[in-house]
Amino acid sequence: MGSLSIKGGRPLNGEVNIQGSKNGALPLLTASLLISGKTVLHNCPRIKDIDAMAQLLKTLGCEITFEKNTITIDATQICDTHCPQKQVQAMRSSIMLLGPLLGRCQSVRMNRPGGCVIGERPTDLHEAALQKMNVRFETAPDTITAYTEKLKGADIYLTFPSVGATENVIMAAVLAEGVTHLKNAAREPEIELLCEFLKRAGAKIRRIGENELEIRGVKCLHEVSMKVMPDRIVAGTYLLAAVATKGQVVLRNAPCRQMDSLIGLLRQMGAGVLADHDILYMDAESAYLPVEYVQTQVYPGFPTDLQSMLLATLTVARGESVLEETIFEDRFKVVPELRNMGADIREEGRRAYIKGVSFLRATHLTAYELRGGAALVIAALAARGESTIDGAHFIERGYENICRDLQCLNAEICLQ
Ligand code: UD1
Repeated sequence: MGSLSIKGGRPLNGEVNIQGSKNGALPLLTASLLISGKTVLHNCPRIKDIDAMAQLLKTLGCEITFEKNTITIDATQICDTHCPQKQVQAMRSSIMLLGPLLGRCQSVRMNRPGGCVIGERPTDLHEAALQKMNVRFETAPDTITAYTEKLKGADIYLTFPSVGATENVIMAAVLAEGVTHLKNAAREPEIELLCEFLKRAGAKIRRIGENELEIRGVKCLHEVSMKVMPDRIVAGTYLLAAVATKGQVVLRNAPCRQMDSLIGLLRQMGAGVLADHDILYMDAESAYLPVEYVQTQVYPGFPTDLQSMLLATLTVARGESVLEETIFEDRFKVVPELRNMGADIREEGRRAYIKGVSFLRATHLTAYELRGGAALVIAALAARGESTIDGAHFIERGYENICRDLQCLNAEICLQ
């Protein structure tokens, strides 16, 4: 298990290419189970979460090959619908196997993915929606067992626009009998990507207004290839790191149109941002203003996955900011580590009150989860002196090579 060593205190400067999206690729991997043949995904990030999902698909019978950033999944032979405990519990997104396995094999058994450090993470919305589609669940505290004689289209209203539940319903509905209307569906860009992927494979999906989807079941899907879009959270991480260090950066292959909420906020902080197709230019030399109030929201609001990184950046703004987390109940785990660096943060329920300090102190830090780990990288880049961050494997779950990328931006960072 590695640690990162970072010499902070100098502005990020340079150009970096943005990797493919983790949350875009993961549902496409699970959706490949619906296709009795090959799925080819280009621009797939080489990260731990994708490796873990690929392993899981292998245990179900898929053949998988990786060549650079192209992954090929051959799901012609699915021999098992029992997802092994170790892999399911290692990765929360294994819940996204429910819809595809029910669609392809009419049954699934897995351990409950369970809570994680950022919050409880229940699966009630997934289960309630699938029950409406003629799925029966056997309830047990630790396992999810579900089966159906035949998936049936249904009218479903999600009480919260959960990303994962929306993806599961879509994946279950494409091969179901009849029509599914999904209301209050999530509208994150990753949902659009999944719909586009399935439509290319022959599914019939139509968006009705902003929050509703209509899915007409078809008999089968055919082989498909798709390019995974760039990762908006990785792009946001590097922009926030540049603000924290008052740098000037260019992001290539950036998902500019998916980043409006962050770009608006960066401008409020004083950064000059220019988006030109998939290139994003940012001058953050005078981006030191605090943010009066910002809350995390579902898309197109400010993403919860960037909350910790914004928090780290605001610790060195000139003034007080208020940041509210509305999606996950326990996502301020990084605060004690930031305080060890001299940050002035007060937590009150789901709000963090951040008083900017003139500098952070380099120190020995520990990452406990993916995005909190990325936030510590930002803080260490802004701090004077050399910091080490243990738990680098958490960061590797979502960043292909954070050292390579930040070195492109002239940072002194390496994995030890
Ligand atoms: C996905 C993303 C994750 C991101 C999150 C919110 C992937 C692989 N992960 O996670 O990075 O942080 O969206 O944008 O794409 N909830 C329930 N019951 C349910 C399901 C969810 O109460 O059955 C609650 C959750 O506890 C949470 C909120 O809904 O408070 C949002 O969760 P959801 O949108 O489902 O997130 P994920 O799909 O797990």
